[in-house]
Amino acid sequence: FFASVEMAPGDPILGLTEAFVADPRPGKINLGVGIYCDEQGKIPLMKAVRDVEQSLAKAENPRGYLPINGLKAYNELTQQLLFGADSPLLAEGRVATAQTIGGSAALRVAADLLKQTAGTGAKIAISNPSWGNHHVVFRTAGFELLEYRYYDKATHGLDFAGMLEDLGKLEPGTVVLLHACCHNPTGVDLDAAQWQQAIELMKERQLLPFVDAAYQGFDKGLDADATAIRLLAASGIEAFVVANSYSKSFSLYGERVGAISMVGRDRDEAARVLSRIKTTIRSIYSSPAAHGAYLVAGVLGNPELRASWEDELGGMRTRIHEMRAGLVDGLVAAGLPQFDFINRQAGMFSYSGLSKAQVERLREDFAIYALTSGRICVAALNRANLDAVVAAIAAVS
Ligand code: LMR
Repeated sequence: FFASVEMAPGDPILGLTEAFVADPRPGKINLGVGIYCDEQGKIPLMKAVRDVEQSLAKAENPRGYLPINGLKAYNELTQQLLFGADSPLLAEGRVATAQTIGGSAALRVAADLLKQTAGTGAKIAISNPSWGNHHVVFRTAGFELLEYRYYDKATHGLDFAGMLEDLGKLEPGTVVLLHACCHNPTGVDLDAAQWQQAIELMKERQLLPFVDAAYQGFDKGLDADATAIRLLAASGIEAFVVANSYSKSFSLYGERVGAISMVGRDRDEAARVLSRIKTTIRSIYSSPAAHGAYLVAGVLGNPELRASWEDELGGMRTRIHEMRAGLVDGLVAAGLPQFDFINRQAGMFSYSGLSKAQVERLREDFAIYALTSGRICVAALNRANLDAVVAAIAAVS
């Protein structure tokens, strides 16, 4: 049965972590995968999460199945975090939300559902570049993949004119994948005025905006980082989709906590969409895992714990900004002022402009792991490893 099965290539991000783990060199540094680490180089267990986890352990609750679309309180709190607690969309019942196994299952569930509704003509436009798994998920779901211009190599910033030109050429009904904030891999985002313009264009062209929100709270704050979602909600656009993940904002990577939210024209449409989300989930993994959702709902639903979480998240955000600035300062001091654009990028990543050959040298000669695209995770920097990273980049530059 399996004699003709060929070896698949390793995953460019998670495969790199496997190589990192297997590397015996002391002092190795992983700037590959998008994981926030604290000053001690550890993945934090957030205080509010720990508190909920301890109460859950004491409560010794039975382990029944969650409903197909997950925990009700979790879905409601997720909607409030994404759309704003006072969002008219929520009051009007226009949002169908289901808890999913991380943001990845949110993408896949929505992709399968959208493919069913679009039939053979399902097309998605993805920013160039984007998170590599976006292409994999939508291609596997049967979509035709298109690209729109996004990153300008010359300025290390946004090619907004190119983006608008490419979006303006898409056929009505095309799905447009957007990053809510902290664009992965570039760290280059649209400002509010640019979002407004892009949204007007997508509305006029009858495109379906699909926002991937994996880093809410990692750049400016929970509300500011949801600007794209809030502007879409206010735009009067008929439909849009939001996939979100709590991997980063709650430091719950392995618990796989995310959600899919699909906004329809009215309550009736949202109810029908939710029924389809449920049949799609049932056909893939039946129902989501419970633990992470109890943690997130436990924190978001309790004012004290929520304040503690927001505070800690704010600290993580500040530390990322400091590490970004520290990297630039170090590189400037090492005679490399051309890296100052890193300060203008947002979130946990920077598209450093390092070439594949330079990235390979970092790994071979310095045990520093980055993606071959040049993406580095600035959220994995700390005061103890910063100098080594600066020195290694200087050596390969
Ligand atoms: C990343 O881009 O490094 C993260 O989103 C982790 C992943 O699953 O690729």
